[in-house]
Amino acid sequence: MNKQHCIVVRKSGPLEGRVRIDGAKNSVLPIMAATLLCEQECIIEDVPKLRDVYVMIDLLKTLGAGVEFSEDGVLRVDGSKVDKWSAPYELVRKMRASFLVLGPLLARFKRTMVSMPGGCAIGTRPIDLHLKGFEALGAKINVEHGSVEAVANELVGERIYLDFPSVGATENIIMAASLAKGTTVLENAAEEPEIVDLANFLNSMGADIKGAGTNTITIKGVERLGATTHRVIPDRIEAGTFMVAAAITGGDIMVDNIMLEHVKPVAAKLREIGCTITEFENGIRVQGPDSISNTTIKTLPHPGFPTDMQAQFMALMSVANGTSVITETVFENRFMHATELARMGAEIKIEGRTAVVRGTPKLAGAKVDATDLRAGAALILAGLVSEGETVIGQIHHIERGYVHIENKLSQLGADIRRIQQI
Ligand code: EPU
Repeated sequence: MNKQHCIVVRKSGPLEGRVRIDGAKNSVLPIMAATLLCEQECIIEDVPKLRDVYVMIDLLKTLGAGVEFSEDGVLRVDGSKVDKWSAPYELVRKMRASFLVLGPLLARFKRTMVSMPGGCAIGTRPIDLHLKGFEALGAKINVEHGSVEAVANELVGERIYLDFPSVGATENIIMAASLAKGTTVLENAAEEPEIVDLANFLNSMGADIKGAGTNTITIKGVERLGATTHRVIPDRIEAGTFMVAAAITGGDIMVDNIMLEHVKPVAAKLREIGCTITEFENGIRVQGPDSISNTTIKTLPHPGFPTDMQAQFMALMSVANGTSVITETVFENRFMHATELARMGAEIKIEGRTAVVRGTPKLAGAKVDATDLRAGAALILAGLVSEGETVIGQIHHIERGYVHIENKLSQLGADIRRIQQI
């Protein structure tokens, strides 16, 4: 853990230039878990060098997979020697997404044991929907001593309705159903682009999945899955974060390597608050306004406004003209950044799932902590427009989801650096 490092940001002028977006964290993690379904080599390209990716590599290796990760972001996973079906607490506790190995291990070995992911900074985040799905496919689930054990003689396709379109549950169930007998129809499924990427990856291995990206996904089980090469989609949240960097500093940034469709909700909001947005085939140019307008934001499952951009927009609204209202409907406790932003002078009132943000013309640098990944990004953004110096601690959270964010921002003209704490 890099607890001894922190990021120092000083008030910076308008950011200008081009930035290239890395492969999507929330795509690559389920895709890496899905390699466990295959007894041959899978090659994944444009894999971001993130802390969470290294945790998943450790987990795959622990299970027996051969893993090679090259300097240019190509990950090779050889699943032929995977011979363990249990994921240990030491790895699962580091990253909630480790729970995504449950579906593939259950499908491959008909039994698995994975530690409970437990609580996390942004809410309790239960796993009931994952488990309901596995049970519907025929697994017996036993939750004991902090672990989930799932056993099945065989997995058989079923009609499954999710009470909430959970991203992780949709992914876990799709993976398990890919090798089940017969057809699974998953209703009220999550529609996030990362689900489509996972389905494309599985289909390229020989799976038969239709409807990914809509709320009904049909998975016809197949006998086995084979070798493939797949390029991960660009990270829409990293892209959104740089788009907000242009907005908050009144800058002009060309964000390269994105899929326009994926950043639509963020682009629409940025237009609303006064940004000029120009779309290109593979990129988007964001020109920040002279003065930022207030707005209303409600996070929703895709294609609604993403919860993973809520914190960054709270930073932006902190310096907007007038009062903004932000409602978080996806997670019940994802406003921890509000307290840290308040240390910098932001005027934010939280009531339940709603934050009322009264824009203030000036923020002031302070010593703050990244309470989670996106909270950390929000603090960096606020630091760019705060008088003096902002020192952000607990940056290991930021490293979970942003590749060298300080380097990318400083190439755009930001006054930002990483230092070692004394
Ligand atoms: N939920 C349940 N029961 C379940 C599963 C989820 O009640 O069995 C609830 C959660 O408690 C939460 C809501 O459903 O309130 C949404 O959770 P979801 O399962 O959709 O989220 P996730 O799969 O745990 C992924 C991303 C998150 C992102 C959310 C929502 C990955 C690895 N993580 O989490 O990403 O916020 O979807 O879009 O894909 C991030 O990147 O910063 C991040 C937190």
